[in-house]
Amino acid sequence: MSNYHIKHLEEYYQVYRKSIREPENFWEEIAEEHFLWRKKWTNVLSWDFSKPEVKWFEGAKLNITENCIDRHLATRGDKTAIIFEPNNPTDKAEYISYKQLYERVNQFANVLKSKGVTKGDRVCIYVPMIPELAIATLACARIGAIHSVVFAGFSSKALSTRINDCDCKMVITADGSYRGNKTIDLKGVVDEALESCPGVKNVLVAKRINSKISMKVGRDFWLQPLLDSASKEGNAEVMDAEDPLFILYTSGSTGKPKGMVHSSAGYMVYTAYTFKNVFQYKENDVYWCTADIGWITGHSYIIYGPLANGATTVLFEGVPSYPNFGRFWEIVDKHKINQFYTAPTAIRALAKQGTELVEKYNLSSLKVLGSVGEPINEEAWHWYNENVGKKKSPIVDTWWQTETGGIMITPIPYVTPTKPTYATLPFIGIQPALMNENGDELKGNQVEGRLCIKFPWPSMARTIWGSHQRYKETYFSAFDNMYFTGDGALRDEVGYYRITGRVDDVIIVSGHNLGTAPIEDAINEHPAVAESAIVGFPHDIKGSALYGYITLKDAGESRNHKNLSKEINQLIADRIGPIAKLDKIQFTEGLPKTRSGKIMRRILRKIAHNEMDNLGDISTLLNPDVVQSIIDNKL
Ligand code: PRX
Repeated sequence: MSNYHIKHLEEYYQVYRKSIREPENFWEEIAEEHFLWRKKWTNVLSWDFSKPEVKWFEGAKLNITENCIDRHLATRGDKTAIIFEPNNPTDKAEYISYKQLYERVNQFANVLKSKGVTKGDRVCIYVPMIPELAIATLACARIGAIHSVVFAGFSSKALSTRINDCDCKMVITADGSYRGNKTIDLKGVVDEALESCPGVKNVLVAKRINSKISMKVGRDFWLQPLLDSASKEGNAEVMDAEDPLFILYTSGSTGKPKGMVHSSAGYMVYTAYTFKNVFQYKENDVYWCTADIGWITGHSYIIYGPLANGATTVLFEGVPSYPNFGRFWEIVDKHKINQFYTAPTAIRALAKQGTELVEKYNLSSLKVLGSVGEPINEEAWHWYNENVGKKKSPIVDTWWQTETGGIMITPIPYVTPTKPTYATLPFIGIQPALMNENGDELKGNQVEGRLCIKFPWPSMARTIWGSHQRYKETYFSAFDNMYFTGDGALRDEVGYYRITGRVDDVIIVSGHNLGTAPIEDAINEHPAVAESAIVGFPHDIKGSALYGYITLKDAGESRNHKNLSKEINQLIADRIGPIAKLDKIQFTEGLPKTRSGKIMRRILRKIAHNEMDNLGDISTLLNPDVVQSIIDNKL
């Protein structure tokens, strides 16, 4: 019997040790006993981090949708797979059973095929949080097309970059989306993006807000009539274990976004196994993750992990503040949510509203509370624990990344004693290492360093689409034979991990990864701007917010700084999306630079953090005087 479900701390340690001592036997047992394979593997694992190359379950054949849907039909056909909770609380929720999901995914898959999409083709999915988003994703997986879901809050420029980077031949979208009391013209964004995407042959459009949109003849098609005439039956494409399942873009500290490529078999096994344990999911529980499917959290823990376990997963279209800040708690009460998974930024925003709205609803169904995407601060942790969990529901602070595919460091609820702000222990099979800047591993406890992973795990991204070299440089070059996460972490006296934050130029704003370079590139496009540097600074709700130091071409620029700031933020919203707007913009006469001309972001970061007495030696700078003037004019 494999250890699919861990229930005690001793069991965790025992299974963990086994997963490290004999990883191949361990994962083979999990894979063999809990999934549906068309053909078994010939080799469990081969790997070489120097190339880097990692293959799990080589030789196996499968389709992830048969694992997420078909195999449940006999025992769970009428069970609800997806609960769709719409933006407007007075609209009816929709309950999609596994049987209905099977039929709708097949219909969608048949539409894709009828439009010429075949195995290996890339399909861009730019759809709001409505059932079609999950169904389109699964339909791609069913026919072996590689889905590239782009968060439907990205701008047309960001969308076109992602479409072109992986040569998508189709875009799936909607006429528009609801967001609180606003509507967003999604099709307009797509039309604008497609002006520079010659490879896109067809656009399928779901009807959501019934707005008037333009449809390009021969290219654009309303989805529903096509679905209505498509068959509800269809065979899943048989995929190789290592065939790409999807591409998902994540920001890098430099350059264009990185299209992380995830495989079929390893991703399935690991997301399913982590879902079962990290949320202690039991049959008939109702699980809700508030993330958008446009991010990895939604891929792994709204769609694939839950459905592979035959779970009921909630898909929420709205926002926590509409029609008021009680919306999350109302939904927990309404659907009797058992596991609730959200981001610290949402918790902080809700905590700010006080406790009245939380107390108004019955939250007694809750058994597990999750946190993801950024460090959770102590205050938010306690608020969540006391007011939402009533000190009865363990908080799982789950650390992981787009690149890791699944949760890596986390407590297992009712198993691992929690500690505020600590992600605690590595999950089964995960071998973390803390490294110093000289490349030595810091052994023992009570150490702090750069967080790496020493051994492959099944759901790790296999490459960056179109640039294996960049994959190698970004993740496997900082330390020999290690995957480098880009995060710093400490290990306390009992071996618990606490993530201390990014050690590169990625800033996490409201749980979203933002690279500083692409934002600076956008700002520098403004004709009045000479140079810019972005750093993060602590923010009550967002965790971190962006502080921009900007120098103008004409130092005596007479234009109103307020208007300029607005124009710059508009430019950022157009190029990347509103999430990347700056909270503070300081116009400066210069930026501190080394003698070789490199901007000293470290100093700017300290100033933004109000750590002026701790700037270090600035006398070696090219322009030390500029530092004082920046401090004097700090916002
Ligand atoms: O810095 C870490 C932070 O989010 C980064 C990964 O972001 P992304 O790829 O967008 O994936 C987010 C959802 C998995 C990490 O490098 N991060 C994520 N979870 C935590 C975290 N930082 C601290 N604690 C966490 N629980």
